[in-house]
Amino acid sequence: MADSLTVTDNRTGETYEVPIADGAIRADEFGKIRVDDDSPGLALYDPGFVNTASCRSAVTFIDGEKGILEYRGYPIEQLAEHSNFLEVAYLLIHGDLPTKEQYERWEHEITFHTFVHENVKGFMEGFRYDAHPMGILMASVGALSTFYPESRNIADGDNRHMQIVRMIAKMPTLGAWAYRNAQGKPYVYPDNDLSYTANFLAMLFKMSERKFEADERLVKALDVLFILHADHEQNCSTNAVRSVGSSQVDPYSAVAAGVAALYGPLHGGANESVLRMLRRIGSKENIPAFIEGVKNGDEKLMGFGHRVYKNYDPRAQIIKKACDDVFEVTGVNPLLEIAQELEKIALEDDYFVSRKLYPNVDFYSGLIYEALQFPPEMFTVLFAIGRTPGWLSQWLELVQDKEQKIARPKQIYTGARGLDYVPTSERWA
Ligand code: ACO
Repeated sequence: MADSLTVTDNRTGETYEVPIADGAIRADEFGKIRVDDDSPGLALYDPGFVNTASCRSAVTFIDGEKGILEYRGYPIEQLAEHSNFLEVAYLLIHGDLPTKEQYERWEHEITFHTFVHENVKGFMEGFRYDAHPMGILMASVGALSTFYPESRNIADGDNRHMQIVRMIAKMPTLGAWAYRNAQGKPYVYPDNDLSYTANFLAMLFKMSERKFEADERLVKALDVLFILHADHEQNCSTNAVRSVGSSQVDPYSAVAAGVAALYGPLHGGANESVLRMLRRIGSKENIPAFIEGVKNGDEKLMGFGHRVYKNYDPRAQIIKKACDDVFEVTGVNPLLEIAQELEKIALEDDYFVSRKLYPNVDFYSGLIYEALQFPPEMFTVLFAIGRTPGWLSQWLELVQDKEQKIARPKQIYTGARGLDYVPTSERWA
């Protein structure tokens, strides 16, 4: 059996052999199919890239049918249990787990780049009191490109590394300050004695105490959440980073595009909707009526279903376990009981079973974030901090991939042609 496709163009009767490699065909092969020399080649129409691979990538593997997620080949379950976010960031960026020396150097580098230029503080203070922290984060990550103009030299490996370290290091500082801005509280400088995630919590919540030391169980839970969000192959924001990065702009500008994409409710905001839904349901007795409403198509069970996962989202399993650790410290979020009961009923109901609708990463994450005292606007900021190493590893792959070109999709033009301009003196007369 040949690895190829035989295509007959019924407009011309011509037959073409299109090679198949890695389960894909190259779209430009279809460009060779044309009616005559003057007409354009055949294009593929795929809004939302539902069935179009835009790159080769060795970063993240997902098998949605089986519920498998691996970073650089390592299962997410093992990384969440045994690793930490900084090590996972190293793994994503470098392609393998670090030796002891490599890890210590990496940790040192990241820790000592957590401070941002004082001018960043100045312009962050310029945002209005009610500015959304994601808007602030997007603007300030983009603005970092002006502080590090050398970052545009993306051909230089050492230079790329420097910017990657800076961005992973500074995201928590920017995210925490965006939060403090909304609270009208003074910004807290990084504490380099603390771990990556403990330092983030200190910058968020420290008040007058000399040292803020968060409960280790909460630090661990948030660290796990960062690991779970660290990459998810070619999702909307990663595609935004790659698309903008393909113009060879500096990585701060490319990552700012990723933050912008994540800001949208279809991408980063579902956990907030889960909380609103649970609050509306209010108590376990109201669940059957709610489920009936979902089955009648009146509304959706938020936090269920996924474009890729047609099985239990492996991240949801891990988060469910992390809930126990967090609630041991903070006390149980009363919405947990409703969520668990909802899940139990839904997983036994034929509507959900037949459609392969399982809890996704957002079903339980909002409950943890709320227990950690984060307001809903901050949920997506946490996602962005976790996703930064993923964005950067994908960006790194992009800029080193000889096959990549500037991202420039085709269109199917549906507008008017060849109109004659009518001067305003005639149109407005
Ligand atoms: N509640 C009830 N029914 C659902 C749900 C849900 N959450 N999700 C899908 N369905 C139904 C659809 O109505 C459809 O039913 P039908 O075949 O009778 O028409 C069927 O299941 C297939 O659903 P699609 O919409 O085709 O699935 P798609 O892959 O396009 O959508 C999505 C995936 C957007 C995640 C969807 O499941 C959804 O809206 N879920 C709720 C929102 C959510 O939790 N989003 C977070 C996703 S995770 C993330 O982005 C980080």
